[in-house]
Amino acid sequence: MKEGGGKEFGAAAARSAADAVRARTDVTPRVGIILGSGLGGIASVIDRATRVPYRDVPGFPSATVVGHAGELIAGTLGGAPVIAMSGRFHMYEGHDAALAGFPVRVLHALGATTLIVSNAAGGARPTLEPGTVMLLKDHVNFTFRNPLIGALEEGDVRFPDMSDPYDAELRALAHRVAKEQGTTLAEGVYFGLLGPSYETRAEVQMLARLGADAVGMSTVPEVIVARALGMRVLGLSCITNLACGLAAAPITHVEVLETTARVAARLQHLVRGIVSKL
Ligand code: HPA
Repeated sequence: MKEGGGKEFGAAAARSAADAVRARTDVTPRVGIILGSGLGGIASVIDRATRVPYRDVPGFPSATVVGHAGELIAGTLGGAPVIAMSGRFHMYEGHDAALAGFPVRVLHALGATTLIVSNAAGGARPTLEPGTVMLLKDHVNFTFRNPLIGALEEGDVRFPDMSDPYDAELRALAHRVAKEQGTTLAEGVYFGLLGPSYETRAEVQMLARLGADAVGMSTVPEVIVARALGMRVLGLSCITNLACGLAAAPITHVEVLETTARVAARLQHLVRGIVSKL
């Protein structure tokens, strides 16, 4: 059985995957970074980078979605040892929540105690214009799937507290760094949905009434696993489009990728600035 925190995507599998990565790099990362759609450019600013394709990581399927290279990049960023994931596993690809969260177990097994997670998201309020970078203040798990279902994994908290999943100190640091860099950060609540269809107008109206600032199709399983392992988490959304019904034109994946390309340099600079101060 694949579902749940069982053996296939559990702690022992993560240790095996981490061993395979360790055989290729001397870096013991303090920070794990998950790069969202089109944000893989951060990989190019990692110094002394070792790249490990996902096909060489036991337990990882190869990434399939356009815009996702599918590799781990270990090295230093702003002087700090990091490991970045270029390409993630989405539930809309048919993956279980446990697999979507599995890479976080691997980053943790390699030594990362902090997770920086980025994503592309639609703005559910009109002020969140495309190109805005939004810090996640909180999330709502609108996928109704949980990567921790199943037998308790070694090292996990059975019932992780989720009252402050996005670390308040890290958020304050992100705001300080953004200010130093002359940019501003929005802050809001991310609603994670399964996808892969974008939301309808009626869904966006409902989600906005329920408190959504941004909507996306990733991040939530990864953050839940990170919290079960006691990692500190910082989340960043690149608002790539206004959610359905808030703009005249329909949403396209091309638009999403174009906006992330436009914002990439700013986001990279920000993440590097944050990591250098951790
Ligand atoms: N909805 C869901 N996911 C997304 C969107 C959106 O509008 N834009 C980018 N990812």
